[in-house]
Amino acid sequence: MTDDLATLQAETEAALAAAADLRALDAVRVGVLGKNGQLTALLKGLGGVPAEQRKERGAALNRLKTALEAAIEARRVALDAAALEARLAAERLDVTLPPRPFPPAGPEQGAIHPIARTIEEIVAIFGAMGFSLAEGPDVEGDWYNFGALNIPDHHPARQDHDTFYLPAGPDGRRPVLRTHTSPVQIRTMLGEAPPIRVIVPGRTYRADHDATHSPMFHQVEGLVIDRNISLSHLKGCLIDFLRAFFGISDLPVRFRSSYFPFTEPSMEVDIGWNRKTGELGKGGDWLEILGSGMVHPKVLANCGIDPREWQGFAFGMGIERITMLKHGIPDLRPFYESDVRWLRHYGAPVLSPATLAEGV
Ligand code: DAH
Repeated sequence: MTDDLATLQAETEAALAAAADLRALDAVRVGVLGKNGQLTALLKGLGGVPAEQRKERGAALNRLKTALEAAIEARRVALDAAALEARLAAERLDVTLPPRPFPPAGPEQGAIHPIARTIEEIVAIFGAMGFSLAEGPDVEGDWYNFGALNIPDHHPARQDHDTFYLPAGPDGRRPVLRTHTSPVQIRTMLGEAPPIRVIVPGRTYRADHDATHSPMFHQVEGLVIDRNISLSHLKGCLIDFLRAFFGISDLPVRFRSSYFPFTEPSMEVDIGWNRKTGELGKGGDWLEILGSGMVHPKVLANCGIDPREWQGFAFGMGIERITMLKHGIPDLRPFYESDVRWLRHYGAPVLSPATLAEGV
C-alpha cells in the first residue's frame, strides 16, 4: 500500500474511533466513501494513473475500500450496542422498590376519580356505623329490579325508570340493566339472615341523557334489618351520614313524606342550602338529596323474612349528585369524559384513602 492510502486508512480509523454517535459515524463514512469522499476521488482518479501501475493501484484501492467499509460497520454495531446499553441503564426500573407514598406533584401524577372518592368516603362513614359492603350484578332479573321490590308488572313506577332491556331469557322475561341499586336489597335478604346492615354502591342505568343525567350513573343503597328498628334509627343514621359527608356539623336535614313502592312510610330527604349561591348548610332553601323509608312488609315477605319479627329501613341516593354538590361541580358529563385536566382539578390525591380519623 502506498503512503497516501496508509495515511487515509489511519486517519479514517482514528475518526471512526472518535465518532461518539451514529451521526458522527455517518459523517466519517460520507467523508471517505460518499459521492465526494476521499476514497471515491482516488477511485475516480484511477484513469489518470499510468497503465503499468493501474492494476496494482486499483487492487489496493479496492482492498482499502473493503477494509474501511468493514471498519465502519464494526463501529456502527458498537455504537448501536452502546446506545442500547445507555437506554437500558437510563430506563432501569427497580420493581422491588415500595411505592412512594407522596409522589411529587407533576403532570404525570394521577388522581382518584371523584366518584371513586365519594364511594370511599361513604364506605368509611357507614363502615364506622357497622355497615358492611354488598354488591350485585349490573344485568339484573326483572323480579329483582322490580317485582320483589313491590313494583308489579303494570306499576307506573316502571315507566319512571326508562329501563334498558336485554333480549328475553327462557322464562320470557327480559333481563334489565338495573335501574337502581335497590335489587341488591333483595339479593342480600335472600342470601343472609337478619340482622343485616349493608351499604351498596354501584352502577345504575336509565335511558336518559342531559347536563344532569347520564345513561350510566351511580347510586348507593343502604339497608338495615333488625328487631325493633324504627323511623328514629333511619333519621339518626341519615342525619349523621349527611353531616359527616358534607363536613357540616349542623347541616339542616328535613324528612318529607313521599312514596316508593318498596317502603312504607316513605320519605324524601332534603338538606338546607342557598339556592342562589349554592352554599350548603345555610340560606333557608331545601334541596332533595335521597329517598328512604321503612322496608315494606311485602318486600320482607318476598325475601322470606317475617315482617312481624323483623323491621328495617332502606335508602338510596345518587352518587354523582352528592359529589357535584360537595365539590361545586356544575355539569355531570365531564365525569365520564376522561379529561385529565378535569380529573386533576377535581380528583383526590392518590394513596390517601378516606378515613374518618382524617375527616372525609
Ligand atoms: N331506588 C330509588 C330510586 O332509584 C331510591 C330509593 C328510595 C331507594 C327509597 C331506597 C328507598 O332504598 O328506601 O329512585
